[in-house]
Amino acid sequence: MHETHIILGIESSCDDTAAAVLRQTGDGPAEILSSVVHGQTDLHSAYGGVVPEIAARAHAEKIDTCIRESLSVASVTLDDLHAIAVTAGPGLIGGVMAGVMCAKGLSAATGRPLIGVNHLAGHALTPRLTDGVSFPYLVLLVSGGHCQFLIAHAADRFDRLGGTIDDAPGEAFDKTARLLGLAQPGGPSVEREAEAGDPERFRLPRPLTDRADCNMSFSGLKTAILRARDKIVAEKGGLTRQDRADLCAGFQAAITDVIVLKTRIALTLYLQNAPAEPVLAVAGGVAANKTIRAALERLCAERDVTFVAPPLSLCTDNAAMIAYAGLERFRAGDVDDLSLTARPRWPLDTSRPALLGSGRKGAKA
Ligand code: KG4
Ligand code: ZN
Repeated sequence: MHETHIILGIESSCDDTAAAVLRQTGDGPAEILSSVVHGQTDLHSAYGGVVPEIAARAHAEKIDTCIRESLSVASVTLDDLHAIAVTAGPGLIGGVMAGVMCAKGLSAATGRPLIGVNHLAGHALTPRLTDGVSFPYLVLLVSGGHCQFLIAHAADRFDRLGGTIDDAPGEAFDKTARLLGLAQPGGPSVEREAEAGDPERFRLPRPLTDRADCNMSFSGLKTAILRARDKIVAEKGGLTRQDRADLCAGFQAAITDVIVLKTRIALTLYLQNAPAEPVLAVAGGVAANKTIRAALERLCAERDVTFVAPPLSLCTDNAAMIAYAGLERFRAGDVDDLSLTARPRWPLDTSRPALLGSGRKGAKA
């Protein structure tokens, strides 16, 4: 008789309050019984970015209803749970604390074990939840706050090959949209405008592509967009729709080129150890970009590597990934106790030096 485990996941590290319930029987696939996400975009939109204090308060206010909703949709009660997993970092400290304190309360009240999950591990393990991918696999995490290549060797062992040394790609998309007067979040707006644009008209920089490592830099791109925009405005008094489309197309082409070139290097490093079933998985909101996704798919086809892109709702911040990462640890007998603390910074791979400047804003991961 296979044992069934039911786990609650809680996520509150940035601007999404989320709760989810997962069930797994024996070694079968984990089933998402519910995944509730309450975003806070409206609360922050007037400020041009996530305001940590507003986020923390909103998490504290919403977390109970969010958990109640996730239990109700899953048709389970607190008594049915075997463990409680919560994001314990990295992220905005006020939000992480709201989640950790709530999870501790639930753990103390129910007597169920508490598991503090690394948010980045949640993203990195998602391909196992959605596609049952086996270790070791290569994962590219591209979001509004993070950009890194990781080889996932085990649920608690990651090798970081490199990442951005300044802005994350999502941040660059958002800033570019702001410079061009397009709506937030910038990724989808820039992608839409780029469809009618000529990617060759503005030749934007491809930073660090002359280096043979996996590190990237995206902050210079927005400066290049700013200069190109100001030059057109000075010459013609304003931007036409076509100018905007061409700038977006040029920007998207530059980001895609950098990501593809660095993924090529990361794949070479990953394939050196001849994994039996080579996989490149993507996670994070930028993975929704069709141009970037298609370019990565082509690269994988060329290298005979399976490309895995989880559905967007599981690529962006959610609690199902936290519950799943918790489940992997619970099954390995690795749980925390009530001394668990919130960690604003928590690199997945501590053997590598910190990526200078990366995650500086402590925002989305
Ligand atoms: O993973 P996510 O929801 O939040 C975190 O950063 O954790 O990612 C949000 C980021 C935003 O910066 C957004 O502009 C970007 O993902 N994004 C996109 C697209 N959709 C969302 N970037 C490029 N193309 C898209 N289609
Ligand atoms: Zn995230």
